[in-house]
Amino acid sequence: MGVRFVLDGAVIDLPAVDPTGTLLDFLRYRLGRTGTKEGCAEGDCGACTVLVGEPDAEATGLSWRAVNACITFLPMVHGKALMTVESLGGASGLNPLQACMAANGSSQCGFCTPGFVMSLHGRAIGAAGADLPVEDVLAGNLCRCTGYGPILDAARAVPQLAQDDSAALAALAGLDCAKGASGEWQGRRWFRPASASALAEVLAEHPDARIVAGATDVGLWVTKGLRLLDTLVFVGDIADLRAISETPEGVMLGGAVRYAEAHGAFVRLHSDLGELVRRIGGLQVRNAGTVGGNIANGSPIGDGPPALIALGASLTLRRAGGRRTVALKDYFLDYGKQDRQPGEFVESLFVPRPGPHDLVHIGKLSRRFDSDISAVCGAFCLTVVEGVITTARVAFGGMAATPRRAPACEAALIGQPFAEATIAAAAQALQIDFTPLTDVRGSAAYRSEGAAALLWRLWHKAQGVPVSVLDIEVADA
Ligand SMILES: Cc1cc2nc3c(=O)[nH]c(=O)nc-3n(C[C@H](O)[C@H](O)[C@H](O)COP(=O)(O)OP(=O)(O)OC[C@H]3O[C@@H](n4cnc5c(N)ncnc54)[C@H](O)[C@@H]3O)c2cc1C
Ligand code: FES
Ligand code: FES
Repeated sequence: MGVRFVLDGAVIDLPAVDPTGTLLDFLRYRLGRTGTKEGCAEGDCGACTVLVGEPDAEATGLSWRAVNACITFLPMVHGKALMTVESLGGASGLNPLQACMAANGSSQCGFCTPGFVMSLHGRAIGAAGADLPVEDVLAGNLCRCTGYGPILDAARAVPQLAQDDSAALAALAGLDCAKGASGEWQGRRWFRPASASALAEVLAEHPDARIVAGATDVGLWVTKGLRLLDTLVFVGDIADLRAISETPEGVMLGGAVRYAEAHGAFVRLHSDLGELVRRIGGLQVRNAGTVGGNIANGSPIGDGPPALIALGASLTLRRAGGRRTVALKDYFLDYGKQDRQPGEFVESLFVPRPGPHDLVHIGKLSRRFDSDISAVCGAFCLTVVEGVITTARVAFGGMAATPRRAPACEAALIGQPFAEATIAAAAQALQIDFTPLTDVRGSAAYRSEGAAALLWRLWHKAQGVPVSVLDIEVADA
């Protein structure tokens, strides 16, 4: 079986595909849909934005989400409906959104315009994230001539648009894609197991296979690193890895829950965690990238791990022989090395809910507010009982070869009064914990000062200082 999907109501059936061939190249070079542009080929600019739809929970309509076609591999759209900029308007000319953009002078270079149109069309038809402020919906679309004003004006003027998914739904129903798929292309194999058990079996047989969830990291290994990946296992649509359950104790997330799907549960866990997620990539990245992928990737500058370590999260790793649970703080062993055996995958993540005496602060410093990787990400969870800090979990990303806790800082906090002098001593202790590097995202000095400033934010927030004032302090640091 190859890859089958529905485009504008018609079935596209590809018996053999390059498993790391991108949707963007297919649209442009095989279908001649050149409206979808390649700006960066790394998920940053949004010029390649398309909409991907899958049947909603009741199978009465489609749930649409905007993704970057440049880092979407073809097997990832198996069993889905697609919309490109050519799908809009059709023979009748411009659709109301396009007409509104034209009337507002929202297209200057024209190159980025199809991506803006697709993001805004998604918003107008109620796609994932349509409830977000328009600035958040467009954070993953770059206009290099900075003509955002007219684009935002047009976006605000566009009404909700009706979307008729009946033809796509009927076509999808005939595809029979639920039971998984696999294929081979020039000796390279790919699998789309239908369940976590089937995934465990595939990995037992192919322990060196590369797991791909949202491909927002792996995609760049191919488009920018030009890596040839041999065996791939796509996990992004495995239903039992997509479950989210919220209890009074905490939030349990399947290993393939996308950031956009986790956002609501994370906001309810702690508003800072929600805000952190809002700043991971643009909406297209959060609509594809998973919390599990962010952890499994093991990057020292991933945003999820420090926050989740400070909150006391644990991972369940599964393989054909069984499961084991590890504290997230122990999962990152060294640069590029995690506590994951061949054949194991991240099945789920549990994040405990902060207790009534817990003070939590999570902060990210990046060169650009939106859609940028951290220079430093700091997260703090202090339990304060009757004015005394009884436990402290402090974790950072961007300060060492792995995301990790800050034992000297924690020791300076535990057992001490929650007071300015204690925070000063703990901020000083961060110099014992970390010797950060200088790189393109920030100098060692900036990172050290920024890490201390993030700890001070916790203190100032607890004193009721408005966040806008804290932003100025950190910018000056
Ligand atoms: C433009 C852009 C902006 C970004 N901005 C941010 C940002 O602000 N903050 C941030 O932290 N990250 C950011 N990222 C990185 C990326 O989006 C995240 O790391 C994301 O969470 C990765 O998830 P994924 O599902 O796409 O992983 P994939 O790319 O599919 O996989 C990443 C790694 O995890 C492994 N993996 C995936 N799922 C599993 C599993 N269930 N079990 C075991 N291994 C698994 C893969 O084999 C691979 O090694 C950005 C990326 C892009 C392209
Ligand atoms: S081409 Fe820039 S995000 Fe895809
Ligand atoms: S209109 Fe394309 S870069 Fe600004």
